[in-house]
Amino acid sequence: MTTTDPLMRVHTNPQSLGRSRERMGLITEAARRAGSYVAGASHRPVYPATEAVAALDAFRRPLQDEPIAAREVLAELDAFGSPATVVSTHGRYFGFVNGGTDPAAHAASILAGAWDQNVGGTIMSPTASVLDEVARGWVIDALGLPSTAAGAFNAGATVANLTGIIAARDALYARQGWDVGADGLAGAPALRIVVGEEAHASALKALRLAGIGESQIERVPTDGTGAIDAAAFPTDTDAHTLVLLQAGNVNTGASDPFTQIIPGVRERGGWVHVDGAFGLWAAAAPSLRAQVRGVELADSWATDAHKWLNVPYDCGFVAVRDPRDLERAMAGTGAYLSAAHDAPMHRGIQMSQRARAVETWAMLASHGRTGLAELIERTCGHARHFAELLTSGGAELLAPVALNQVLVAFGDEAQTAAVIAALQEDGTAWAGATVWKGRAAMRISVSDAATTRDDVQASAAAMLRCWQMVRG
Ligand SMILES: Cc1ncc(COP(=O)(O)O)c(C=O)c1O
Repeated sequence: MTTTDPLMRVHTNPQSLGRSRERMGLITEAARRAGSYVAGASHRPVYPATEAVAALDAFRRPLQDEPIAAREVLAELDAFGSPATVVSTHGRYFGFVNGGTDPAAHAASILAGAWDQNVGGTIMSPTASVLDEVARGWVIDALGLPSTAAGAFNAGATVANLTGIIAARDALYARQGWDVGADGLAGAPALRIVVGEEAHASALKALRLAGIGESQIERVPTDGTGAIDAAAFPTDTDAHTLVLLQAGNVNTGASDPFTQIIPGVRERGGWVHVDGAFGLWAAAAPSLRAQVRGVELADSWATDAHKWLNVPYDCGFVAVRDPRDLERAMAGTGAYLSAAHDAPMHRGIQMSQRARAVETWAMLASHGRTGLAELIERTCGHARHFAELLTSGGAELLAPVALNQVLVAFGDEAQTAAVIAALQEDGTAWAGATVWKGRAAMRISVSDAATTRDDVQASAAAMLRCWQMVRG
């Protein structure tokens, strides 16, 4: 007898058929709930209502003794969890640099969740290994980095910064004949660390984790846009020097003057690492590439896919010009761990790791080069539109809009803080607070691909309305 039920074709045993049916039903149910979450997101306030947040108390209970059916667990997550999420995927969330959710990457993450592949070693998953290899090549290519650089996916730009800084530290020492792997750091000659005064907290945290303390860090002044003042950059760096530069200031989007700094540092034997968590992606858009001119001259780079690429959390990426420098710092060996030298476990801090490249592969495959450039350019256009609307409503732009970040003040310090609080309460849109050159400011990050011109107009109108209310 033939059957059209694919499950009956593969299962002859009624018990395993039952288990498969149950599992398939559960996954379909999860996908149905995910679909209605996404479809309903536009009808919800960007930030959850107080009652929804209070209802999360349902989760705060001791772990019970008895099991609960998976379907019930899922229903509970949806009932209490979904209403208290921040709607960062529907175009009006402008907080931090939190990207939205690219449809292809999201769909891929659902499938990859079912695959549950460990991409640490090549033999653990042919599919994950090939997608990882292809995606890291695409990222390096899209960013205009040297084609021979080694890339690796990881949990985010902070981990990518840490990985790049450790590779730099060990390489600088190796060039002096000091083997960190053999002799450790105690007694090693000090490195000179030079950063811009606007270096992101993530880069400073990574330095600390790499064993470099605050008192070792030398800060170079920045200009009004937040980029390093090239004229103030030291010209006496040497072969013990690690320089951290930035592509995309988190407040203004401005990038450091790479062409004026990198060649000299490298000629004198130093290492340049670039933190480009979001700003590095300017290189993928023809009209914005000039913003990061010369960034490819550096030794290592950190970026994120979970920000501007709208790949689901979490996904960062590190690239190192000379693959041997990355592998010297990150390779791990063990008798049972046979893996190609370029396997992810030898290029990052984690050994076992989820196959996160699958989502970046799907995002890039679905957009292609032109779609990627269009996404970057469109969101920057929205940022400029925000600036126009807000300044014509009387707000003060505190720095030029270089990329997708907008920095504005509404009257004095107190009014600006009150407008931000009122906007967050209002629910139309969400933007956060920052301090820029000593002044309170609202920062708007247009990082969600779902944002439309209408979203920008409705959000700017809500900001100006909140200001009116605060003044009135
Ligand atoms: C310039 C820069 N570097 C690093 C980070 C940290 O990125 P992640 O949170 O992915 O570690 C950010 C986050 O906004 C950033 O803007």
